[in-house]
Amino acid sequence: MDTDLVIASKRDERRYADRPLPGHVADAILDSGRLAGSARNRQPWIFVVAESEEVRRGLASAVYVSVAVEEAALVVALVVTPGGGVVDFDAGRAAQNMMLGAWDLGVVSCPHGIAHPERLRDALGLADEERAVVVLTFGYPGLPRRPERRTVSEWSRRARRLPLDRLVRRL
Ligand SMILES: Cc1cc2nc3c(=O)[nH]c(=O)nc-3n(C[C@H](O)[C@H](O)[C@H](O)COP(=O)(O)O)c2cc1C
Repeated sequence: MDTDLVIASKRDERRYADRPLPGHVADAILDSGRLAGSARNRQPWIFVVAESEEVRRGLASAVYVSVAVEEAALVVALVVTPGGGVVDFDAGRAAQNMMLGAWDLGVVSCPHGIAHPERLRDALGLADEERAVVVLTFGYPGLPRRPERRTVSEWSRRARRLPLDRLVRRL
């Protein structure tokens, strides 16, 4: 897909097909996160992939929409380490890279806020200085998606987003 179509047609999806992601697809998604820039190139993140049933159950119990974690083919918790800089912003860049990279490969995704931080901390066995920012779920869509069926302008118009004139302040 063209970059503008990837960006305009990305929607957050919380239900997934019961189909695994091939290893090279999961690796490509994680690598898109690795490639994100960060303040002073510190790369203050760890991408924790939930592989065991126990960890996945723990993550499902810590987010608002458990079914997404239960059904997803790939679940990644973004954990930041301290050290100055705007680490949550850095984590956001890595997360969006992963989700857009995934969508370009036909994989849908959703970020999840953390409803129960202590449950998440326990499930991930985090060190004191580590903090989970967000949980990402990925999977193939239940029904095939065809982003090419609309133009970039159509996707942009249909997005539930504020218009630019509300967002841009020109000084
Ligand atoms: C930081 C963050 C946390 C989010 N947490 C949740 C969540 O806990 N559960 C959920 O279903 N969606 C969550 N979302 C997804 C938002 O609901 C979604 O980005 C927004 O509704 C736009 O969706 P759309 O791109 O499909 O239009 C989160 C998004 C962000 C950026």
